[in-house]
Amino acid sequence: MKFISFTEVSIPQQILKNCKILSRYKNFSTDGIFSKKCSLYFEKTLNVPKALMTKSCTSALEMCAILLNIKEGDEIIFPSYAYVSTINAFVLRGAKPIFVDIDANNLNIDVMQLEKKINKKTKAIVIINYAGGSCEISKIIKLKKKYNIYLIEDNAHSLFSKYRNKYLGTFGDLSTTSFHQTKNLHCGEGGALFINNKKFIKRANIIFKKGTDKQKFLEKKVKKYSWKDLGSSFELSEIHSYILFHCLKDWKTKFKKRMKIWLNYHEKLLILEKKNYLRRPIFVRSIKHNAHIYYILVKKNYRDSMISYLNQNKINATFHYLPQHESYFFKKNYKERFNLQISKKISDQIIRLPISNNLKKEQFDHIIKYIFKFFLTK
Ligand SMILES: Cc1ncc(COP(=O)(O)O)c(C=O)c1O
Repeated sequence: MKFISFTEVSIPQQILKNCKILSRYKNFSTDGIFSKKCSLYFEKTLNVPKALMTKSCTSALEMCAILLNIKEGDEIIFPSYAYVSTINAFVLRGAKPIFVDIDANNLNIDVMQLEKKINKKTKAIVIINYAGGSCEISKIIKLKKKYNIYLIEDNAHSLFSKYRNKYLGTFGDLSTTSFHQTKNLHCGEGGALFINNKKFIKRANIIFKKGTDKQKFLEKKVKKYSWKDLGSSFELSEIHSYILFHCLKDWKTKFKKRMKIWLNYHEKLLILEKKNYLRRPIFVRSIKHNAHIYYILVKKNYRDSMISYLNQNKINATFHYLPQHESYFFKKNYKERFNLQISKKISDQIIRLPISNNLKKEQFDHIIKYIFKFFLTK
C-alpha cells in the first residue's frame, strides 16, 4: 500500500493537454475569456449578482475587508475555531477580532452566543461554513437586520452545499470560496468573491483591478485608467481560470463520488460511535452538505497517538484548526481574553480522514482496518 494522501489531488490529463488553447488567445494573465466564463457560471448557477474570480479565498477575504471600509478599532465577530486567513484579512485593515465559541454539534459559530458580543463598534459577523455545512443562518440574518451589521460568509469549504434549499455563499452581503487543491473543486490555487449586496459591486470592480477604473477602460467608457481607490493584485490568472472552468463541467459527478466515500465512512464507523470510541459528523435536515471533510472526534488523550498510528500505517489523517483566541498573535496583540471551551475541546479531539473522489476502495478499506485496529488496543 502506497501512502494515502489526505486528498488525492489530480487535474485530468486532457485538461492540461488542451491548455495550449490559451496560446490562441495570447492571454496568460487576467481579463481573459476563461475567468469571465467562470464568473458567469457562478453568477448563473448560484444566482448571485456578481462573482469575481480571485487568486485565493484569502485574497477574496481581503477584498471583503476593504469593501467594508474598516477603520482601526472596528470590531468583527468570528468563530474562534477558524482558519488564520479568515481573521487576518480583517486584522490587516485594523479590525479587532471578537471571538465566539462554536456549536459542538456542527462545529460552526454558536449562534446562541453571538448577540451578547454585538455592540456599537461591531461592523460585521464573519462565519465559516464548516466542512460543507453551516450554522442556523436564519438566526444570524435576524441579528444582522436588528443591529444593522454586515454578514460575510467564508464558504471556502462549502461550495454547492445548501442551507434550507438555497446555496451557501448566497446569504451573506459578501461571500468567499476557495479553489485550493485541498477543496472539492480546484485549480491548484484560486478563489472567488460572491457579491450578494449589490451596493458593493461598483467599488469591488475597482478594488479588484488594483484600485483603478480599468474595467471602465476595457469597456471603452474612459480613455485612460487611473488610481481611484485601495486595491491589489486579486485577479485569478487565465491559466488557473482555464483549469477551473474545465473542472467545473463535471462537478456533480465528482461530488457524487466524494459523497459515496463520505457515506461509506459514516456507515462503517457507526459501530465505533455506538461503542463510544468516537463521534461522527452531525448534519441537521436543513443542510445538504458537499462531503468536503470527513472528520471524527476522539478522546483528547487518544487524538495525537491515533494520528501518529494512522500516519505510521501510511494514512495521512490530520488535525484541524487551533482556537484563534489562544493563538500567539492574538495574545501578543490584544488585551481581551476569551473562555471558549468548545473550540478548544474540538480542536483537541478532531481527526480529518483522507477523502477525495479518487480514493480507491482498497485505500478506503485500509483506512477503516487501521481505525478499528487502533481502538482494539484501547
Ligand atoms: C475556512 C477557510 N477560509 C479560507 C481558507 C484559505 O483558502 P485559500 O488557500 O484559497 O486562500 C481556508 C483554507 O483552507 C479555509 O479553511
